[in-house]
Amino acid sequence: MLIELLTLFPEFFNSPLSQSMLQRAQSQGAVEFRVLNLRDFTFDRHRVVDDRPFGGGPGMVLKIEPLVQAIRAVREQDPEVRVILLSPQGFLFSQDKARELAGQKHLLLICGHYEGVDERIHFYIDEELSIGDYILTGGEIPALVVVDAVTRLLPGVLGGEGAVEEESFQTGLLEYPHYTRPRDFEGHEAPEILLSGDHQRVARWRRQEALRRTAKARPDLLEKAVLEDADREFLATSTDSDKKD
Ligand SMILES: C[S@@+](CC[C@H](N)C(=O)[O-])C[C@H]1O[C@@H](n2cnc3c(N)ncnc32)[C@H](O)[C@@H]1O
Repeated sequence: MLIELLTLFPEFFNSPLSQSMLQRAQSQGAVEFRVLNLRDFTFDRHRVVDDRPFGGGPGMVLKIEPLVQAIRAVREQDPEVRVILLSPQGFLFSQDKARELAGQKHLLLICGHYEGVDERIHFYIDEELSIGDYILTGGEIPALVVVDAVTRLLPGVLGGEGAVEEESFQTGLLEYPHYTRPRDFEGHEAPEILLSGDHQRVARWRRQEALRRTAKARPDLLEKAVLEDADREFLATSTDSDKKD
């Protein structure tokens, strides 16, 4: 997969893309990242990318010409590229969306800045994604969120290190809790059942913990989750205080 990032701050990506899973994914050949400098798509001597908003008001707006110039240059190389603008006004990014994007061959992620980008960009992009209901300074961190969530889903990237199938959201629920040594830390003991060696009981406990946590923190997820009869029974019998503690 090729992921291109269009930004005013190319160096922003140096460290995040060269560490940990993202670095490994590149050396394995699962993904290639290319960082494009928006200023390279300007034609004027001062390489201007922003201007004052029509109608007045605070801040600056990213100009349409360099953005479209960059999108065209990438599309010329690959007409199939999926062009995505990061923006607080977009559809909410989710694990489902990450899975869908992981099936693409080529993404172009556009990072906005200042007050945002000229609205006419909507004639040139495929979609607009938000990473949540808060405002960040630029689209670089949101783009990295998408890059990380998508890359870790590419075949072979996690290897034996992570069980993607059981992670939060993948099953429609939040994930169960994890413990490792020591068994007792300052009086806080790991649940006995996890040390029982009884795989069936461990699996049941984990499922119930996932249900309990989801009911407590994200009851909205339960409405869409695929639940078995046993799950519904557990949820009906677990008391509200169970869900809250
Ligand atoms: C300061 S924000 C602009 C916010 C804009 N004035 C508004 O009120 O919607 C600058 C850039 O950061 C990025 N950004 C900020 N928050 C974001 C979010 N929650 N999700 C995705 N991108 C975001 C976008 O690329 C945006 O163009």
